[in-house]
Amino acid sequence: MIRFARTCAGRPSPDAELSMVTAEPGSTALSTARSTPSSRPLVAMDAVSKVFSNGTLALSGMSMTVRPGEFISLLGPSGCGKSTALRIIAGLGGISEGSIDWPSFRINARGLPDGDISFVFQEPTLMPWQTVFGNVYLPLRLKGLSKKAAADKIYAALESVGLEDFADAYPRELSGGMKMRVSIARALVTEPKLLLMDEPFAALDEITRQKLNDDVLALWKATGITVIFVTHSVYESAYLANRIVVMKARPGRVHADFPLHTSLERDVRYRTSEEYRQACADVSAKLSEAMGGEEH
Ligand SMILES: Nc1ncnc2c1ncn2[C@@H]1O[C@H](COP(=O)(O)OP(=O)(O)OP(=O)(O)O)[C@@H](O)[C@H]1O
Ligand SMILES: [Mg+2]
Repeated sequence: MIRFARTCAGRPSPDAELSMVTAEPGSTALSTARSTPSSRPLVAMDAVSKVFSNGTLALSGMSMTVRPGEFISLLGPSGCGKSTALRIIAGLGGISEGSIDWPSFRINARGLPDGDISFVFQEPTLMPWQTVFGNVYLPLRLKGLSKKAAADKIYAALESVGLEDFADAYPRELSGGMKMRVSIARALVTEPKLLLMDEPFAALDEITRQKLNDDVLALWKATGITVIFVTHSVYESAYLANRIVVMKARPGRVHADFPLHTSLERDVRYRTSEEYRQACADVSAKLSEAMGGEEH
């Protein structure tokens, strides 16, 4: 059960991304729900192409603007460049042509966003030799915070994902869903403005996945954080997002980009509503187009 009486910020782990961890040493992690009053985009990708060193053209002419407070689901066939696009948005991968700008972020000397962006991957990527506390501490340790100074932030992050009683547990003692919650807590502990999630729940059973979907939605509502959520699931995307971006492959680019509004709360009633059925049908139709009529 995720609770958001107190919210926190953070970011994830993997090595390449660790340089992006941001947290103001000494600042409090226990902020109240954040609003996003600025209408300046968070990210503006314009006609971006990406050619890897082996010659693979992963993206071509990809344009996408991310605005504060959005919950974007990014869908598309395998290999269409979703992860590549997410890494570029995170400032982790260079581009070959076009431009990318982060108008709402602090920019470092390399012209990249200086923190405030967190990544959650499909695998929780926890350090098995560290406790839950130690895993969530990692991004703050990399920012130079002592354990003592970081403790309040860490407990707030754990509380936000319902794991406050598991701070001393090791990853091997947790279920798959709990490990993913730790990964989310680690992503939140530095209070990012933008949360990038790359198929985070794909390996989980359906019930756990639905629960975590509800938890991420609650987090999004409580904090005002902006989310880009990559998924292969039409149902998951239609449940979560208020904007759908469907990509096409070879080369990767945007095929369809449309809002998903509903008058209903996204809860168990929404799952059985006509609006949700229609949203799934709309997303599915665009995905089929993007896949050239292939089954998905
Ligand atoms: N480091 C790399 N070097 C060379 N080619 C790469 C690299 N990373 C990805 N690619 C290629 O770029 C294309 C896009 O890959 P990417 O992983 O972004 O796709 P994806 O949409 O995330 O796929 P999936 O849904 O399977 O995760 C693919 O053709 C892939 O083989
Ligand atoms: Mg991928």
